[in-house]
Order: sequence, then structure tokens, then C-alpha cells
Amino acid sequence: MTLHLLTISSHAITPAQTAAVIALCSEVFEMDYSFYMTLGLDWTHVLGYDDGRLVAHALWLDRSLRVGDGLWLAAAYVEGVATHADYRRRGYGSAVMRRLQVEVAGYDLAALSPSAPAWYARLGWERWRGPLFIEQAGARQATPGECVLIYRTPRTPALDLDAALTAPWRPFELW
Ligand SMILES: CC(C)(COP(=O)(O)OP(=O)(O)OC[C@H]1O[C@@H](n2cnc3c(N)ncnc32)[C@H](O)[C@@H]1OP(=O)(O)O)[C@@H](O)C(=O)NCCC(=O)NCCS
Repeated sequence: MTLHLLTISSHAITPAQTAAVIALCSEVFEMDYSFYMTLGLDWTHVLGYDDGRLVAHALWLDRSLRVGDGLWLAAAYVEGVATHADYRRRGYGSAVMRRLQVEVAGYDLAALSPSAPAWYARLGWERWRGPLFIEQAGARQATPGECVLIYRTPRTPALDLDAALTAPWRPFELW
């Protein structure tokens, strides 16, 4: 079997495709993934189909990230990386991520907070070593214990991975 990849924004996705994403991610993450679909976020999905069935997925959304006291960078923030349990270890998850990594070439960088950090290393993701902060109403709060990985695009400036990394607050998982 081969994987058929489709990149589609939340503006263009069909109700059937949305339902398939919710079903896949709810099963893989053992939660009601429809919650995220109610947030009205502007995100882009990479869908992986095997024989017409959605079996692999990732998405990104726009998020500003600040390194140290530098300028805010335009990041593609990645979520929902999932392969159906029956279709793992066929390279599908990697294929979805490689497509995503090409698609986000226009961003300053990509970032994500992994539950399986080691899996991303072979795809070129690097661990952020410095302290992580969330900023709300001008105040920065440390978020110790979190893990963030970054992926460099052709536009990524020189980065000090030991510097502080700050993201704006958001009303669900902070990272
Ligand atoms: C992580 C996940 C997306 C990988 O999907 P996949 O389609 O099986 O990925 P691939 O086939 O491209 O890669 C599989 C390889 O990664 C390895 N791998 C899987 N999980 C790993 C992990 N946690 N750490 C390191 N390597 C891992 C496998 O051993 C396999 O290696 P091999 O081919 O040498 O045997 C899938 O296991 C999944 O959906 N897991 C549950 C959800 C999750 O953890 N998502 C990521 C959270 S940020």
C-alpha cells in the first residue's frame, strides 16, 4: 500500500474530512478531539490516506515565538501528529511530517511539544534547551517540565537553543 498525502486548510476542509480527523485523533490521543475543532483556529492539516482511509495526520497553526529578547518569529506550531495503531511502522507518520516540513518553508521556524521526542530526531527536529515561558498581558511565566522541539526552515535565523523561548498564552495546552 502507498500513502496518499493531502494538505488542506481549515477553510477548505470538508465536514467528512473533519469527522475523519476527529475520529483518528480521538482514538490515538484517547480524548475527544472535536474540542479543538470548536476553537475556530486557523490551521492546516496534512492528511495521509491508505486505500481511501485516513490513517495518518498532522496539522500546524500560526504561532509567534520569541527567542530571548529578540523579535517575535512567525512559527508553524505543529499538533495532532498521529498514525492509526494498525498502520504504524510503515513510514506513514514520517511521510506526513516530511510533507509538513516542506509546506512550512515560508515560516521562520516550526515548533511542537512532543510526547515522543525521540521519534522526531530522525526528521531533523532539535530540542530547545533553554527555559520556556508563556507570556500573557505582558508578563512572562516560566513553564518548567515542558519540552519543545524546533525545526529549521530555509528562513530560520541563527538560533541560540539555550536562550529563553517565549510563546503567547492560549486557552488550551500552553505548549
Ligand atoms: C509517533 C507516531 C506518529 C509514529 O507514527 P508511524 O507512522 O508509526 O511512524 P513511522 O512509521 O514513520 O516511524 C516509525 C519508526 O519510529 C519508531 N518510533 C515509534 N515511536 C517512537 C518513539 N516514541 N521514539 C522513538 N522512535 C519511535 C519506530 O520504532 C519505527 O522505527 P523503525 O521503522 O526503525 O522500526 C505514532 O506512533 C503515533 O501516532 N503515536 C501515538 C501518538 C503520538 O505519540 N504522537 C506524537 C506525539 S507528539
